Amino acid sequence: MTTTVSQSEPVTRSATTRHLLMCSPEHFTVRYSINPWMNPEVPVDRDLALEQWTRLRGVYERLGHRVEVLEGAPGLPDMVFTANAAVVHGGRALVANFAHPQRQPESAAFLRWFRQAGYAPAEVAALRNEGEGDILTVGRIMFAGNGSRTSLAAHDELREFFGMPVISLDLVDPRFYHLDTALAVLDPHTVAYYPGAFSDAGLAVLEQLFPGAILANEDDACAFGLNVMCDGYNVVMSDGAPDLAKQYEARGFNPIGVGMSELMKSGGSVKCCTLELR
Ligand code: ARG
Repeated sequence: MTTTVSQSEPVTRSATTRHLLMCSPEHFTVRYSINPWMNPEVPVDRDLALEQWTRLRGVYERLGHRVEVLEGAPGLPDMVFTANAAVVHGGRALVANFAHPQRQPESAAFLRWFRQAGYAPAEVAALRNEGEGDILTVGRIMFAGNGSRTSLAAHDELREFFGMPVISLDLVDPRFYHLDTALAVLDPHTVAYYPGAFSDAGLAVLEQLFPGAILANEDDACAFGLNVMCDGYNVVMSDGAPDLAKQYEARGFNPIGVGMSELMKSGGSVKCCTLELR
């Protein structure tokens, strides 16, 4: 699929097929709170969550992406957020080492999946590291969030494990506790972000590297409009971020909105439910 945008310089976008890992939400709920979006007193409609997740999977499949589905485990309600499972590149998988005890048992389940699927090496990170929730690849560079979940020391571990450059970005707003809630990667040259989520130093890096970046307003960032899966052309995103959707479109991308209300009660949306197997 390609499109040409009417800008001074025509931009041609093209989608490439991706290999994705999702986890079914049978056990999804909100019964503890480890980020500001989670309130165990607000009921979650699990049937609706399953419907929304199934629709998301269907969108990926219709776009031609290959989706692997891992079964969730009882007692691990956040396993549905597979972006946090690992970082995967060139068949190597660095599995998450979760910051909160509530999520720590997920590591063994994810590790088992990666080993069975033939990823090698597949190892649990030695240092606090929440996978692609905090580590986003733009072209040949990894951007790693330094906040409440992934430690700065883990950025060195990443660099060694993958042999790729890693740029650290400090996250300063507790609502944007994972990098993938504040930074969207659209293609190797295009990102979108919410400036308020980053330290001054982090912002300076983003401004230098991506002078033409799309900037999100607070409302759209809070509606998880940056928590997207982009295949180079299609931007799969939550349906409540109208300004961002307009900006994605103006740059020649094709925003596809999906309802994610139930998963958002846990502080996660489209990207959080999706791990790219690179
Ligand atoms: N409730 C989960 C947590 O707080 C949500 C994780 C969202 N994942 C993400 N990649 N941002 O850990």
